[in-house]
Amino acid sequence: MEYNYSKAVPQGGVDTVGEILKVAASPNVISFAGGLPAPELFPTSELQQATDQVYRTSAESALQYSNSNGFRRLREILAQRMARRGVSCDADNIAITTGSQQSIDLISKMFINRGDTILVEKPTYMSALDVFNTYGANIVGVEMDDDGLRMDALEQALKDHPEAKFLYTVPTFQNPTGRTLPVDRRQRMVELARQYDIVIIEDDPYGQLRFAGNPVPAGTPAPLIALVGTNGNWGVFVLSIVLIAIDVMIYVPFVRIAEEIMVKAGVDHEK
Ligand SMILES: Cc1ncc(COP(=O)(O)O)c(C=O)c1O
Repeated sequence: MEYNYSKAVPQGGVDTVGEILKVAASPNVISFAGGLPAPELFPTSELQQATDQVYRTSAESALQYSNSNGFRRLREILAQRMARRGVSCDADNIAITTGSQQSIDLISKMFINRGDTILVEKPTYMSALDVFNTYGANIVGVEMDDDGLRMDALEQALKDHPEAKFLYTVPTFQNPTGRTLPVDRRQRMVELARQYDIVIIEDDPYGQLRFAGNPVPAGTPAPLIALVGTNGNWGVFVLSIVLIAIDVMIYVPFVRIAEEIMVKAGVDHEK
């Protein structure tokens, strides 16, 4: 039978990420192609203990359907962690996701109609491109240099594509280049986004994984939204993972979005 697939199904038949993960799964390979954590660092016994405790003390509520934004207490902790990074945020702005990948998918579903233009760094994270392609985006790459996205190129792209729905950016330890955008460019990016009225999607999986040097901006690895000032609901989305327990290094993926958009996304069933 010939299946009549939807347009969202990739036509090429090549699963690049799948191929990388297949090779990386071999015990003889140390892969630098995917961001795989070292398995010996997985906090297995702590997770075992925590799981046991949940089953002992609150199995019924843990196994039951619940609020689709995620466990409220965990969202409160994430909001506190974001506040330490300079972001005004409360639990109602946070949806816990299965990974940045789900956050990228959720946001794409909300913003991209087939043929809509979006701006990305050139080059950018290939699995984000997969999602944008699935939703039929017209993807426009913006040039970078050794310091990351070039602001002159961004301004030109915004002039050329006033219809662009959003800018997807990984300003800290960008994938695949590893570049980190200096603070003056971050400020300029936010200024330009305001001037041209475009949403910024900041993907920040690595901002808290610095091994050397100083965070950008100095002091704390604040997401771009921290530069936006008091109007925290303005259109910057952060897809992030946040360290919630320092002693066992557990990171939780989530998306931080403005409250009215949570309602549109259908992820706010709580109030
Ligand atoms: C920039 C970027 N965003 C998102 C992800 C995927 O994150 P997750 O595993 O949380 O879906 C990666 C993983 O390599 C990445 O480099």
